[in-house]
Amino acid sequence: MRLVIEQDYAAMSTWAAEHVIKRINKFAPTADRPFVIGLPTGSTPIGMYQELAKACQAGRVSFKNVITVNMDEYVGLEPSHPESYHYFMKSNFFDHIDIDPKNTHLLNGLAKDTTAECQAYEEMIQSLGGIDLFIGGIGSDGHIAFNEPGSSLASRTREVRLMPETIRDNSRFFENDLSKVPTRALTVGVGTVTDAREVMILISGSNKARALCKAVEGHITQMCPISALQLHSDSIIVCDDDAAVELQVKTFRFYKQEEKLAREGLAY
Ligand code: GLP
Repeated sequence: MRLVIEQDYAAMSTWAAEHVIKRINKFAPTADRPFVIGLPTGSTPIGMYQELAKACQAGRVSFKNVITVNMDEYVGLEPSHPESYHYFMKSNFFDHIDIDPKNTHLLNGLAKDTTAECQAYEEMIQSLGGIDLFIGGIGSDGHIAFNEPGSSLASRTREVRLMPETIRDNSRFFENDLSKVPTRALTVGVGTVTDAREVMILISGSNKARALCKAVEGHITQMCPISALQLHSDSIIVCDDDAAVELQVKTFRFYKQEEKLAREGLAY
């Protein structure tokens, strides 16, 4: 696992955006051979989305031949609801880049048959040839997408019940009213994420420090779903200093040194 520790949220966002730009441009996608990218919501990736939109407007990257697959969606929220992930993606990203809306995919949280919806989502990912780069954030309990602690590390797209901790964390988007936060969601599985050819996770802030520490230094366990990343051969966590405060000093120094060497082109 590669761990990139940047000074603050802005630097973390820039690093992540530059990585995405590098990957897309190196891939040189065409209509017949598009780049497939998995995308998260939440406050953490907003800075990266803003940087990517700027780069797109400046002609440094194009999303014309990029296909997006979002991680998750609340059950029961209309796409026009300001807290739905459909609305989030449109207003924070898709409206500001040159992507064709028909190339953007999100789970339908209003589907009558959620099992069929989730199965069709997995099949859609398969038919695209899998995901080239899956980007994610994490919850303070180490959840990824909406895979709460206890989710199988091999889980696939499905309907889930949200944990009280997640409902509490996300209530800030629902006027701090716990009763307004949906209690169920559709989410890709941990296995769906780790099947991607590359995974990049963004972690910012001291409220995620415990989870980051468990992900990097802890055991691989379903009680910390993000720890599954340790089994991925091409994974990156990009974080800021605040999120790194629980790491052991030797871990912190090791990764700082690794990045220094990587930037000097000396990494093995
Ligand atoms: C929700 C989303 C996750 C996201 C998490 C953290 O639970 N389903 O995908 O990573 O929120 O959000 P934030 O970045 O706002 O802390």
